[in-house]
Amino acid sequence: MLEKRKGITVSRQIMDDQLLHPDATGELTGLLNDLVVAGKIISAEVNMAGLADILGQSGKTNIQGETVQKLDVFANQTIKRRMEQCGYVCVMASEEDDEVIPVLDGYEGEYTIAFDPLDGSSNIDVNVSIGTIFSIHRRLSEKGMGTEADLLQKGSKQVAAGYIIYGSSTVMVYTTGSGVHGFTLDPSVGEFFLSHPYITIPDVCPYYSVNEAYSTYWLDSTRDFIAQLKKEEDGMGPYSLRYIGSLVADFHRNLVKGGIFLYPRDKKSPEKSEGKLRLLYEAAPLAMVVEQAGGRAITDDGRRILDIEPTNLHQRVPLIIGSKKEVDLAEKFFT
Ligand code: AHG
Ligand code: MN
Ligand code: MN
Repeated sequence: MLEKRKGITVSRQIMDDQLLHPDATGELTGLLNDLVVAGKIISAEVNMAGLADILGQSGKTNIQGETVQKLDVFANQTIKRRMEQCGYVCVMASEEDDEVIPVLDGYEGEYTIAFDPLDGSSNIDVNVSIGTIFSIHRRLSEKGMGTEADLLQKGSKQVAAGYIIYGSSTVMVYTTGSGVHGFTLDPSVGEFFLSHPYITIPDVCPYYSVNEAYSTYWLDSTRDFIAQLKKEEDGMGPYSLRYIGSLVADFHRNLVKGGIFLYPRDKKSPEKSEGKLRLLYEAAPLAMVVEQAGGRAITDDGRRILDIEPTNLHQRVPLIIGSKKEVDLAEKFFT
């Protein structure tokens, strides 16, 4: 039915999602709507990047003598500012902040949010797609300011998750657990309109995405799996390699076109013993999106991402995510 409603706004869809949950208080609706506003503000700033001289070091001044910020700092502040006073969040975590982020006194709400304000930071100043990733849980504690424990919940408990990709256009993709929808921002009117109803990740998977430069540091299982993808066998392969280096952008392409993305652990350094990507605000939200779209997300030792109990805010996790058939195949190599 939604297919016929192409053109509805994201705010309307968020409201309609709420109707599926008769006991909903409307707080999640409010939270997501505030996140949409943050996405529009960040999108506008990303689009001004080259023009407004906002790139470069924090603390630099622009032509008007104003202090300018790096885009990732700007994105972080924008989301924090919207969320701390929206009244729907009790505590936050961001890739850019070591500790939990409190909300304004008296504005504590029902939910927690963890986010990567700007993913793909190495691509910011070269006009390659970047994005914001978010993960929302219902709080565990009763009331007042939320704590770290409220944030340390497994991915299967997320009530909403998604991302906003700032690319050739700005697209918001999110799920509240009843399918995945994508909305494209029309900058001329400042609205996100439904462009991708009920996204399902294609079964035919043409792409794999991994940083092959690390192959000498890979475990044998990773090497064997990637070698398999290069073969032509059983009507599958050889797959084409696509690696942007922005998780959001690699993920979004694979979600729409079919594909598998891997950031496995490697032996390059002790820090890479769990890969690079973070569980709370990179792997878990994208895992919820991919599962809702019919795909899968596991670790390189075969654990379902959504089942992992987090132990700290910034913990890393090896990630294999994408089309079901390919993740099923990967699982055979990784378990
Ligand atoms: P961030 O920009 O938020 O720090 O994330 C960067 C991540 C992710 O977007 C990408 O998939 C990965 O780093 C690329 O890492 P490599 O350069 O090691 O391949
Ligand atoms: Mn990131
Ligand atoms: Mn980031």
